[in-house]
Amino acid sequence: MRNFTSVHDVENLESLVKEALELKKDPLKYKGLGEGKTMGIIFLNPSLRTRLSTQKAAQNLGVSPIVMNFGSEGWKLEFEDGTVMDGNAAEHIKDAARVMGAYFDIIGLRSFPGLENRDDDYQDNILNQMIKYAGIPVVSLESAIRHPLQSFADVLTIEEHKTVKKPKVVLSWAPHPRALPQAVPNSFLEWMVAADYDVYATHPEGYELSEEFTKGVKIEYDQKKAFEGADFIYGKNWSSYHNYGKILTKDPSWTIDAEKMKLTNNGKFMHCLPVRRNVIVSDEVIDSENSLIIPQAANREYSAQMVIKKILESNF
Ligand code: CP
Repeated sequence: MRNFTSVHDVENLESLVKEALELKKDPLKYKGLGEGKTMGIIFLNPSLRTRLSTQKAAQNLGVSPIVMNFGSEGWKLEFEDGTVMDGNAAEHIKDAARVMGAYFDIIGLRSFPGLENRDDDYQDNILNQMIKYAGIPVVSLESAIRHPLQSFADVLTIEEHKTVKKPKVVLSWAPHPRALPQAVPNSFLEWMVAADYDVYATHPEGYELSEEFTKGVKIEYDQKKAFEGADFIYGKNWSSYHNYGKILTKDPSWTIDAEKMKLTNNGKFMHCLPVRRNVIVSDEVIDSENSLIIPQAANREYSAQMVIKKILESNF
């Protein structure tokens, strides 16, 4: 593996999942693998889980992590080619990426979409420029359109908790006061289909995701109908893809509550966090014994460790 930006970088998902669950039993087994290597973990946007789990994953492999919150600590970056840089941006991504490529062996990068220009965001320009100019392996820590380490951790969590070979997995839109990216739902659906689960998405009309991410996904506009017989409910808000970046509704009837969970097959509740309690999901559901939010977050360490391990094995 050279870079990790999506499920398409995974040669064999089934064996990667097996290997990650083995790694989880003895996370320090490969402590010598990354000795002398350094990983730059770069954030253009805020994070709790990704920042801490990626740092821990690197340390488990003997890699020295260096974290930089570029959004608050770095120079303001320019991403357009050929711009006359007489505005606020002090440094071009071309130069920043090449400098970081000189210091590190691997780079992890988090960047969010602007949610204003869909074509720009869906080119995943920031991540792709980092890959182009850094000259070293790059791991996406969430980009404008995907969150692959989260989705990989989600697959690990489902594999650990499923009771049937091919569970019914439902991605459910839920309301939120702010406009959020489509990265988590896009990526989640892509990985769920690759894992060969029975995949559904439910959302109000107008919240259809890009067709690139919904191949093999059944769309059900009636949330209660979608929940029937589900083994896993994945709650998430996203802003509109077609009316790009817009909030079309904050309808509280889409909040995931205990009544709706009763329609499922004793379904487990999942969310990537952070979550707005009693907006996305009721306290009763998120604090129930069927809630997987903490195991999911814990698995972020092992999804990151597995990816860093693969990159170390293939590149050094
Ligand atoms: N789920 C997730 O990526 O969390 P953070 O934004 O806190 O890293």
